[in-house]
Amino acid sequence: MYPWLYDAAEFRNHAGERVLEIGCGTGSDLLQFAKHGAVAVGIDITPEHLRLARERVGQLAEVREAEATALPFPNESFDYVYSHGVLHHIEAPRRVVDEIFRVLKPGGRFNIHVYARWSYFTLSRILKHGRNWRLWFENSRDPVHIDFYTKRNLRRLFSPAQLQIEKYEFRRAPFLASMFGFFLVAKGTRPVRGDEAGADQTTQ
Ligand SMILES: C[S@@+](CC[C@H](N)C(=O)[O-])C[C@H]1O[C@@H](n2cnc3c(N)ncnc32)[C@H](O)[C@@H]1O
Repeated sequence: MYPWLYDAAEFRNHAGERVLEIGCGTGSDLLQFAKHGAVAVGIDITPEHLRLARERVGQLAEVREAEATALPFPNESFDYVYSHGVLHHIEAPRRVVDEIFRVLKPGGRFNIHVYARWSYFTLSRILKHGRNWRLWFENSRDPVHIDFYTKRNLRRLFSPAQLQIEKYEFRRAPFLASMFGFFLVAKGTRPVRGDEAGADQTTQ
């Protein structure tokens, strides 16, 4: 679906590393890490997704039921943490960030994809549906928690880690994706222990 994802997710760059995917869904991204030689572990909370992910990855990767805010792994047990389209659905995102920092080894890196507040898609939903546009964002008509991030509030959420952030996904006009793309892709390195204290918990 997302041709840009291959490079943005860095599927090819983690051979031999321990990679954790938070919210692995049906396992398509997890499989890419595993196929390129990573020791890949995925977690998710949706039973049907877990079943499909296990079916997809077979013996190539481990899939576990777990909540992003309480990862069942020891401190400093992964080289790389990846998550696509999950953090913006979580009501306490800083708890997930703290868990990412906790499970990363010193020097370990993370790569997190969230919805951008200003994108062709949010603007088109607002124009089409007006005040209730958020109800028309996901396939579900049931209420779904969604945060929309700016680069600024994403940096605040991950403080004190330094982030490199790019925008992606504008299928009809890829040359405009860096301005109006639908996903913010944030990459960074685990902060040195002790620096996390006092990080601002604001997400909006
Ligand atoms: C957009 S999908 C991820 C797709 C995945 N990258 C793939 O390759 O299929 C988001 C996933 O996050 C999971 N999720 C949402 N909230 C979660 C939470 N609090 N803890 C763990 N997983 C969560 C959902 O169940 C869903 O499978």
